[in-house]
Amino acid sequence: EKLIFNGEFIDRSASKVDVEDRGYQFGDGVYEVIRVYNGKLFTSQMHLDRLIDSAKKISLDVGYTAAELEILIQQLVTENQLTYGTVYMQFTRGAAPRNHAFPVDKIQSVFVAYTKVIPYGGEVKSGKQAITTEDIRWLRCDIKSLNLLGNILAKQQAVEKGCFEAIQHRGDTITEGSSSNISIVKDNVLITHPPANLILNGITRRVMLHLCQTNGISYREESFTISEMMNADEVIMTSTSAEITPITLIDGKVIGAGTPGPITNKLQQLFHQEIE
Ligand code: PDD
Repeated sequence: EKLIFNGEFIDRSASKVDVEDRGYQFGDGVYEVIRVYNGKLFTSQMHLDRLIDSAKKISLDVGYTAAELEILIQQLVTENQLTYGTVYMQFTRGAAPRNHAFPVDKIQSVFVAYTKVIPYGGEVKSGKQAITTEDIRWLRCDIKSLNLLGNILAKQQAVEKGCFEAIQHRGDTITEGSSSNISIVKDNVLITHPPANLILNGITRRVMLHLCQTNGISYREESFTISEMMNADEVIMTSTSAEITPITLIDGKVIGAGTPGPITNKLQQLFHQEIE
């Protein structure tokens, strides 16, 4: 299996990260996770655009166009004979003597991409459990930054309580999961936080909203409160790795009927038609 290191296809054991790489020291970089279904990259255009957008927001010059990156990662998928899995890719600002400020002289960003096999499981049939937790992250969650401490600590709380996801809130407002977007369904209307600085504008979320639009499912991009979520008919988490997953128990309280609801089931079905 190969990985891409600064544009070269090499063995993982041959890759070397400098101890003063700014990604390693400061989390000074951005990343993406792209799903591969049946050997094909799924929604890679949107992921690569978001990657370049995230980089721009932190003044990091990736040195590639989205089209160039697409060719490289497609080559990696082919080289590694990946049929079902993900491509992880990240850019850091590069290596320089440790200093918070950007290096004065321009340095080369460091680009890594590698693949991971995920056996194809189909839809998540059973409802998952989640907890709620205060969102302690910074105010630029729209950037897919390597700084994930807030997300990590939230997810770990969930895992320690035997749960699948931590649903974060700022005060009373639900923002998003530790590694997913959260939507609710109430009276047949899907409601999800609008894209803004407080959440990552998830691509699975965007695909889901498109499916709502083209299949006559009403939706609103509006924030909702903790109690609106707890009293919702359905709660849904979306992400590249979780796709569209029902959440049926939050903080020990049953959501709706306690089983995946009809809109969740419908959206899962439609989503799987998209990837076939
Ligand atoms: N998670 N919000 C956060 C904080 C995330 O980390 C992710 C992605 C999402 C969903 O975005 P998308 O649908 O574009 O994957 C929202 C990683 C990549 C994952 O779980 O796969």
